[in-house]
Amino acid sequence: MLIAEKLEKTYRRHAVQVRVLNGLDLEVKTGEFLSIVGASGSGKSTLLHLLGTLDAPDGGRVLLDGKRIDNLPARARDELRNRTFGYIFQFYHLLPEFNALDNVLMPAYIHHSTLNWWRSRGQWRRRAEDLLTKVGLSHRLKHRPRELSGGEMQRVAIARALLMNPRVLLADEPTGNLDAESGGDIVRLLRDINREEGVTIVMVTHNTDIVSATDRVVRMVGGVVTADTPAPRLIPMATIVASPPSSPSPRMLAGGGLRILNESRPTGSD
Ligand SMILES: Nc1ncnc2c1ncn2[C@@H]1O[C@H](COP(=O)(O)OP(=O)(O)O)[C@@H](O)[C@H]1O
Ligand SMILES: [Mg+2]
Repeated sequence: MLIAEKLEKTYRRHAVQVRVLNGLDLEVKTGEFLSIVGASGSGKSTLLHLLGTLDAPDGGRVLLDGKRIDNLPARARDELRNRTFGYIFQFYHLLPEFNALDNVLMPAYIHHSTLNWWRSRGQWRRRAEDLLTKVGLSHRLKHRPRELSGGEMQRVAIARALLMNPRVLLADEPTGNLDAESGGDIVRLLRDINREEGVTIVMVTHNTDIVSATDRVVRMVGGVVTADTPAPRLIPMATIVASPPSSPSPRMLAGGGLRILNESRPTGSD
């Protein structure tokens, strides 16, 4: 549904040129949960911005359902950003003076003329409350961002991203500022949204643990895609350590929990 073709992007600052994307090709399929991994500075955020028309490429094209979206006039592009894409960022980008409910309502407020807004406000409000309930925050509707934890702020941001019923969620390191437990909760929430609502999700992360919740992993190095594989499966640690003949080391048993299959095999050096 969403295709990047030979994308090129160079940032220029004074005399210095930084070539970030180098003819990158990528296809995102309808309904999938795709993760993009790569070292810091490999161009992941830049790619996400180009896919979501937040920035324009210097070369190549971005296609949505076969139609070019990288060179749209401002009005059509704004409509696409408001209706088709939902954005989730590492630092939430909530408005500090507004409570959770009003933050979630912001995209609808921006979309409507003043008159239409007052007419349809009640319906939008109910939808925003439903979404905040879905993300587990029905008891935090009137809280401002500074009265919420990081995980809760990200839940508000996810509800806001869903308000206009987008087809594609673009998430840039959504767990990057969270501890492992709330990060895991956020990725499971995204997984549920992907499965239950059929929303296509593209998530940038450099946390290799959380990619196991996604369908496919694309790795970026130096502004191109260097690997494109199904996501590694999570399997219970117990099934690994229970298998004979090698007996589990005390360290393996102490670790417990879930690990990514291909990173958790017992080794002889333990
Ligand atoms: N607006 C900008 N102006 C100049 N350089 C930028 C800008 N945005 C990103 N860069 C540079 O481009 C490179 C890739 O950035 P980015 O896409 O944010 O990487 P990643 O998200 O993978 O860490 C980095 O070296 C960064 O410093
Ligand atoms: Mg980034």
